[in-house]
Amino acid sequence: MSDTLSISAGADSAELPITEGSIRATDLRAIQTPEGPLASFDPGFVNTASCHSSITYIDGDAGILEYRGYPIEQLAENATHLEVAYLLLKGELPTADQLAEWDKLVNTHRFVHENVGRFIQAYRHDAHPMAKMMAAVASMQTFYPSSRRLDDPGARDMNIVRLIAKIPTMAAWSYRHSIGRHFVYPNDELGYVDNFLAMLFQSQQRVYRADPRVSRAMEVLFILHADHEQNCSTNAVRSVASAGNDVYTSAGAGIGALFGPLHGGANEAVLKMLREIGSKDRIPEFIDGVKSGKARLMGFGHRVYKNYDPRAKVIKKSTEEVFEVTGVNPLLEIAVELEKIALNDEYFVRRRLYPNVDFYSGLIYEALRFPPEMFTVLFAVPRTAGWCAQWLEGVTDPEQKIMRPKQLYTGHRDRSYVPLGQR
Ligand code: CMC
Repeated sequence: MSDTLSISAGADSAELPITEGSIRATDLRAIQTPEGPLASFDPGFVNTASCHSSITYIDGDAGILEYRGYPIEQLAENATHLEVAYLLLKGELPTADQLAEWDKLVNTHRFVHENVGRFIQAYRHDAHPMAKMMAAVASMQTFYPSSRRLDDPGARDMNIVRLIAKIPTMAAWSYRHSIGRHFVYPNDELGYVDNFLAMLFQSQQRVYRADPRVSRAMEVLFILHADHEQNCSTNAVRSVASAGNDVYTSAGAGIGALFGPLHGGANEAVLKMLREIGSKDRIPEFIDGVKSGKARLMGFGHRVYKNYDPRAKVIKKSTEEVFEVTGVNPLLEIAVELEKIALNDEYFVRRRLYPNVDFYSGLIYEALRFPPEMFTVLFAVPRTAGWCAQWLEGVTDPEQKIMRPKQLYTGHRDRSYVPLGQR
């Protein structure tokens, strides 16, 4: 016999079936209240599932993250980003032949229409690269109208390939525009990550080839950021897609969500915080400020992880590898000490606040000489693979509907219009 939840209010009572550890929110409507059928109130969707998904599994208490059942640590150790993108999209790891074909397919679609370059050029020199990339991605729909045919599997797949292929180009060009340098075109001889690094750092005089240790560290960062189930930006992607939108329009919304300092912008905020702290002896004073509510310890805490974020563990290791090439970032010392103090402080222990993916990633990006504005862009490029997989799952799921939450109305009612002269 399956479990049920018994609820009653006033004259009504109901037995709500519990399946998959949840009740169906619409079953609550069996109970009438003075305000209407019973509903649930959940700002921030803290305890509300919005979909079935078979892409990413997280156990936040145990600190587990898996893509299609494979632990993130094994993927970070062994796979490439495009291999992981294939896994997220298709559900299985590719064979060697499938991977070669997939790499070729993606890597031959990296060029963007020349007009994309022209409108990136049209921004002011100080426009944030994330905002330029968001506009560039949303505009892709105008170049590929087939993307609007959501019921055409071939069009869906092809436009996903285009987006994954072209987003590094749009990201790199947004950056190059910020620093006043010429755009570097994709190079078919280079893999996904090496080509991205070359489009970012190549100068006219000198052929840029990334140090293999830097390239591998970027690949690992890409894999760690590729998906994270129903986070804020993925929810934005699915929500926009639920109205019948193409993958570019939906991913544009995802980039907008990721831009926020509580989501993808946190690693930029971590560096700002470390600089403000300035030296190890000022950490206790900073921690006191956090505890009294003056500041947040950026890079700590997570909606889902109530344990060490498994991605943070892998990144900490990559940090050491990158610093072998670039030399140690002096802020690392402050970060390590800050982590040690926070992990032993009753305030953080009681609230189960641990380092998240952003605590160390900003230090790597800074060591690679990326300006802080680029950090969220470096998050959005790999997350595009996850957004595409989630978009596809959403638009092909017959259970999904246009997303439209309820509200609890707190405003006035039944007022009569007062003519302007009488107010
Ligand atoms: N520093 C100090 N206190 C914190 C922090 C923090 N970083 N995070 C949470 N708390 C406290 C919070 O004040 C609250 O305390 P109390 O119960 O006394 O009111 C308690 O912990 C629960 O916090 P919450 O704000 O209800 O938790 P949430 O799930 O709504 O927020 C979060 C999650 C990530 C927005 C939040 O932890 C935060 O702002 N962290 C700093 C920003 C950050 O590092 N974001 C990157 C997230 S990882 C990247 C990603 O996956 O998107």
